[in-house]
Amino acid sequence: MTDILDTMRARRATKRFDASHQIPEETLNAILHAARYAPTAFNIQNWRFLVVRDPAVRAEIKAASWNQPQIEESSALVLICADMHAYAKDPARYWKDAPEGMREKYVGMITQYYENNPSMQRDEAFRSAGMGAYALMMAASAYGYDTCPMDGFDFERVAEIVRLPKDHVLVMFVAIGKGTGELPPHGGRIPDSDVVIHDRF
Ligand SMILES: Cc1cc2nc3c(=O)[nH]c(=O)nc-3n(C[C@H](O)[C@H](O)[C@H](O)COP(=O)(O)O)c2cc1C
Repeated sequence: MTDILDTMRARRATKRFDASHQIPEETLNAILHAARYAPTAFNIQNWRFLVVRDPAVRAEIKAASWNQPQIEESSALVLICADMHAYAKDPARYWKDAPEGMREKYVGMITQYYENNPSMQRDEAFRSAGMGAYALMMAASAYGYDTCPMDGFDFERVAEIVRLPKDHVLVMFVAIGKGTGELPPHGGRIPDSDVVIHDRF
């Protein structure tokens, strides 16, 4: 078994964090940086990681999240968002390191794929954000941190609190911190045969 598989299997949604633990700035930056290795279609890098540190903002978010303790007890609360219009914002920068011909080709494909297709812009935002969220969780594990993915909150209210731009979407939270060790029993996993389908439904 590789380290990655160990990490994947050991991860649990952590409900109670040590509120006194302060995550060093450089560790949090390293975790966020690692999450950016998550893939995105056409490399548009449309995930946005909003790190909420201000206790006043966290208190407002907690009130909009059924008062779940992770919101304030975690060492870092990251709101996983995506920019649905990333495709139109200087797309050449997503291929800046590629040869010019390739860059131009990709910019053309990006424009053609997303322009005038709001449902694709939104679907892609969710795909990227999901990949980014799990990458963030795995990176946090690599640095010895526990995480809780969360969507138990009032999306409209939290969007208002954090002044989410109109062309962005809020997908979920990832709370990062040192778990207290208190973990509720696991719900269990349904058999592979219920979730793996071969060839056709
Ligand atoms: C998208 C998503 C949203 C979730 N929202 C919450 C939440 O709001 N609060 C919470 O305590 N756990 C939340 N969870 C954690 C799940 O309850 C947990 O992942 C699931 O029970 C499986 O347990 P495990 O992650 O420990 O394997 C969420 C998980 C996901 C993936």
